[in-house]
Amino acid sequence: MRIQQEQKQAAALKAAEYIRDNMVLGLGTGSTAYYLIRRAGELVKAGMRLQAVATSRSSEKLAEEFGIPLADINEVSRVDLTIDGVDEIDPNFEAVKGGGGALTREKITAYYSEQVIWIMDHRKQVSRLGAFPLPVEVLPFGWHLLSEKIHGLGYAPILRVENGQTFRTDNGNYILDIHSPSPAGYRKLSDLLHSYPGVVETGYFPAVCSRIIVADSSEVLVIEN
Ligand code: 5RP
Repeated sequence: MRIQQEQKQAAALKAAEYIRDNMVLGLGTGSTAYYLIRRAGELVKAGMRLQAVATSRSSEKLAEEFGIPLADINEVSRVDLTIDGVDEIDPNFEAVKGGGGALTREKITAYYSEQVIWIMDHRKQVSRLGAFPLPVEVLPFGWHLLSEKIHGLGYAPILRVENGQTFRTDNGNYILDIHSPSPAGYRKLSDLLHSYPGVVETGYFPAVCSRIIVADSSEVLVIEN
């Protein structure tokens, strides 16, 4: 566990080398992004001028704690670089995200960023997506009928629960985690889900990253997309 944390930190510190003065920086969400936000705070303390947009309330709080100036995403004209974690990524740079429930804000921020860097420990790299269930953000209204519909397609959606309570995203929505998504694959499943009313966003991310940074016990690799 400690080693995994060290690898996450190593990937985050490498990614921080891509941060430049005057950037609008997208802050990811999760335990790997934590190290990045902490480092960005150190850069600000050292005099770097940054404006950050956060992909979740938790990252927003961290940014405040570490003294990083925050902007509302609707108030910036661009996002230069977003650095975020992933739950799974395949050799084509397609990824699953949303383990922390921030997938919708993460996807919006990534899509409108000039550059995206995904940071991770090497366990996140897989030959084929599928072991990590696909998180899907859905409106609370009608979620059960939607879940039944997905069930009818042969999948096994599970309403996410945290601390005994239905998990709510920062947007006030629910998450369905969809297990056993074969044989269609996440891309097709995601496209299909987008056609259903009540689906806000899925955690399937096409290859929107510019590069990934992967740490294992011996090295930190920068892999360009
Ligand atoms: C949150 C995410 C995270 O980026 C993903 O879950 C990876 O988290 P961690 O860095 O803690 O392993 O998508 O919604």
